[in-house]
Amino acid sequence: MKIAIYPGSFDPVTSGHVDIIRRAAGLCDKLIVAVMHNQAKKPAFSPEERCEMLQRVVGDVPGVEVRMFSGLLADYAAQEHAETIIKGLRAVSDFEYEFQMALANRKLNPGVDTVFLMTSAEYMYLSSSIVKDIAAHGGDITGFVPDSIQDDILLRIRKEGNSWQR
Ligand code: PNS
Repeated sequence: MKIAIYPGSFDPVTSGHVDIIRRAAGLCDKLIVAVMHNQAKKPAFSPEERCEMLQRVVGDVPGVEVRMFSGLLADYAAQEHAETIIKGLRAVSDFEYEFQMALANRKLNPGVDTVFLMTSAEYMYLSSSIVKDIAAHGGDITGFVPDSIQDDILLRIRKEGNSWQR
């Protein structure tokens, strides 16, 4: 059984993430979408909230399981017997950081390889931070995130403004 992990902050999940999840699910038997902690970011949503939104959005995709984990990705991959880490790449600017993480994860767990999927062209510009910034300034996030979580984001971000930013 080919098990892959798609890790991320998913704060919140965007239409770009959903695109990667659907495409990655077709490449393996089981895709674990793992909500994890990025120490460089202060999240707007709790891990439980991020999981619940992901579950709502991709819970019905065959082979996809949504989980959360607070430790090292390399350890989680070993725990789940995953041989592959899936990452989405939007632009060259993503590459250096992703390349570093892929090498570090392989050093920590030689049994795991990172596979990069290029984002679909329509989501090149999209990120969770951009979605939160647009929402905080009263902009329209239709299409940037799945319809079913749009209200959750507007409620949270408009109430708290930009306080999620460092
Ligand atoms: O969506 P993000 O914020 O770009 O995802 C980054 C994430 C969560 C995948 C990364 O920070 C991560 O792997 N965190 C878990 C802790 C870990 O393993 N750190 C070492 C990475 S080499």
